[in-house]
Amino acid sequence: MSIPVLTPEQVQKKLLEKSYQAQESYYAMYSTWWGGIIQNPSLMMVPIDDHIVHRGDGVFEAIKVIEGKVFLLDEHLARLAQSAELIGLPLPMNIQEMRKTILETMAATQKQEAILRLYISRGPGGFTTNPYESVSSQMYLVVTSFKPVAEEKYQKGVSIGRSAVPPKDPWFARIKSCNYLQNVLMKKESVDRKLDFTVGFDSNGNLTESSTENIVILDHDGNLVRPKLVQILRGTTMIRAFDLSEKLKTQGLIKSIQERDIHEDDIRNAKEVMMIGTTLDVLPVSSFEGAKIGEGHQGPVAKEMLKLLRADIKNGPKATAVYA
Ligand SMILES: Cc1ncc(COP(=O)(O)O)c(C=O)c1O
Repeated sequence: MSIPVLTPEQVQKKLLEKSYQAQESYYAMYSTWWGGIIQNPSLMMVPIDDHIVHRGDGVFEAIKVIEGKVFLLDEHLARLAQSAELIGLPLPMNIQEMRKTILETMAATQKQEAILRLYISRGPGGFTTNPYESVSSQMYLVVTSFKPVAEEKYQKGVSIGRSAVPPKDPWFARIKSCNYLQNVLMKKESVDRKLDFTVGFDSNGNLTESSTENIVILDHDGNLVRPKLVQILRGTTMIRAFDLSEKLKTQGLIKSIQERDIHEDDIRNAKEVMMIGTTLDVLPVSSFEGAKIGEGHQGPVAKEMLKLLRADIKNGPKATAVYA
C-alpha cells in the first residue's frame, strides 16, 4: 500500500466531491476564519489545530428560528458571553456585531425555520493544551434545518430513566462548553436503553438535567418546580417558560412557582413532569424507569405551558425578526 501525498488541487477536488445525506440539512456557515458565509456544505470546515477540535476548548449555543424569528437571541448571547468569560475566552467580536452576523447569515439562507449553532473557539495554533498557543479566538456559526419532535409525543409524553453517567461538577455544569462528553454519553445511554431521555442526579440525590434539556415537575401539591440553578445549565427556555407560567397561578392551574431540590421520589409522585429546552419547547413525560407519571400522558399544565411558549416564540417580545 502506498499512501498518496495530495496536491492542493487534488484536495480541493476531493473536498467538493465529498457528500453525504446529513449535508442536505446544512444551510449556511459563517466563519471569522474565512470572514464570510459559506453555503456549500462540503466546504463548511474548521482548522484541525483550532483548540475547539483537539481539546474541546470553546463555548457554544443552539438557538431556534421559527417563522423567520429568532427566539431568545439576546438570552443566548448573554449566556454565551458568560460561558466565555468563565473560561477566560475573549470574544472575537462584540455582542452587537455577533447579533448582526447571526441575522445576516440566517437571512442568507432565505429559510423560515432553522437551528443556529454558534461556537466561540480558542482558535487555531498548535496542538497542546496551552490556550495561549492560539492565534486568536474564532466564531463559527452553522445554520441547519430544524427537525421538530413528532407532534404525537406532545400528547403521549416521553419515557425517561435515571442516568448512570457521572454528573458534571457545578462549576462546569453552568458553562455551555464544547466539553460535552457527559451529555453525549447520556444521549447514548438513552438510545441504547430505548428511552427518550435519561436524567441525572447529583451526589446528594438531587435532580440535575438531561443531555441537552432541563427537567421540571408539577409536584403532588400542584407547585411548579424547577431545580436550583446550581448543578445545571441555566436553560433559556426553562427560564422563559417559568416567567410565562406566572399566568397559570391566576388561572388556578398551579399553586406556586418554586426553585428547590427535586428527588427521585418527587419525580415518581409528581402530577406532571416536563422536559424543557430549545428544540423541545415543553414536552411531557409519561414514565420514569417504566413507572407511569401522573395520568401517563400530557397533563393540563404541560399543555398550557406549551401553548404559552409557542405563542411567545411566534409573536412575543423575545422573538427577533430576521427578514424586514
Ligand atoms: C446541558 C443542557 N441543559 C439544558 C439545556 C436547555 O437550555 P436551553 O433552553 O437554553 O436550550 C441545554 C441546551 O442548551 C443543555 O445543553
